[in-house]
Amino acid sequence: MSNPAHEVLRLEALRKSYNIGQLNEVEVLHGIDLCIDRNDFAALIGPSGSGKSTLLNILGLLNQPSSGELYLLGQPTSNMDDAGCTALRGNSIGFVFQFHHLIQAFTTLNNVLMPWMLTRGKPDKFALEKAHELLAAVGLEKFADRKPNELSGGQQQRVAIARALITDPALLLADEPTGNLDTQTAAEVFELFRKVHRERGCAVLLVTHDPRLSATCDRTINLVDGNIKSDSLNNTASSAHL
Ligand SMILES: Nc1ncnc2c1ncn2[C@@H]1O[C@H](COP(=O)(O)OP(=O)(O)OP(=O)(O)O)[C@@H](O)[C@H]1O
Ligand SMILES: [Mg+2]
Repeated sequence: MSNPAHEVLRLEALRKSYNIGQLNEVEVLHGIDLCIDRNDFAALIGPSGSGKSTLLNILGLLNQPSSGELYLLGQPTSNMDDAGCTALRGNSIGFVFQFHHLIQAFTTLNNVLMPWMLTRGKPDKFALEKAHELLAAVGLEKFADRKPNELSGGQQQRVAIARALITDPALLLADEPTGNLDTQTAAEVFELFRKVHRERGCAVLLVTHDPRLSATCDRTINLVDGNIKSDSLNNTASSAHL
């Protein structure tokens, strides 16, 4: 877990407060130290309100910590400007949300290409091939021309996973990616994350409320009241027995 050559991200004494009203500042993350390396397939668990989404959004450079440092691929991010953060995020992080946030007016293929277009401009032949390849990897090669509302919930989430992978991120973050799916479909989507981790070598950190799913991860990080209460390797990591 601590080989610097394998490190994808590291947090040091990270704190986050929200302003509520004019004078009330409430701290929700109380000095988090955490290291994720590229071999990690980890679950972030914890009670509702414990700070999981806040933490994930900070890890994904979607929100700023109040203090502390976040190193992404060895680079400190606290003094980076917006353009630097956007570039680093676009090139190194894939994000999957509970609700897929696909663009309904776009085809499946163009949804997958979206992060590419945002970071690198007009998709070239290579990008198009890659988008098709990713759709095949998530089992949706025949659905490239469909619109999201013509797909099932599980299929839509698969498109969101393909979209998160188009820029070859070193880290895939997912906030309750199966929270909206039935048990069987959730297990299949989790299996897909495992496959992505195995075949593409990106670190994966997933928030889940489902203990059956977190038990299939290699590592479980338990966040309680804004502190990491435990961080341990699971003995029986296997998604084959869901
Ligand atoms: N934008 C915000 N402004 C003020 N407080 C916030 C904001 N976002 C979150 N909070 C508070 O921060 C705390 C942590 O919220 P967070 O959404 O990170 O929890 P969570 O662990 O993801 O919960 P859940 O499992 O319900 O998704 C909560 O007390 C929440 O009310
Ligand atoms: Mg949350």
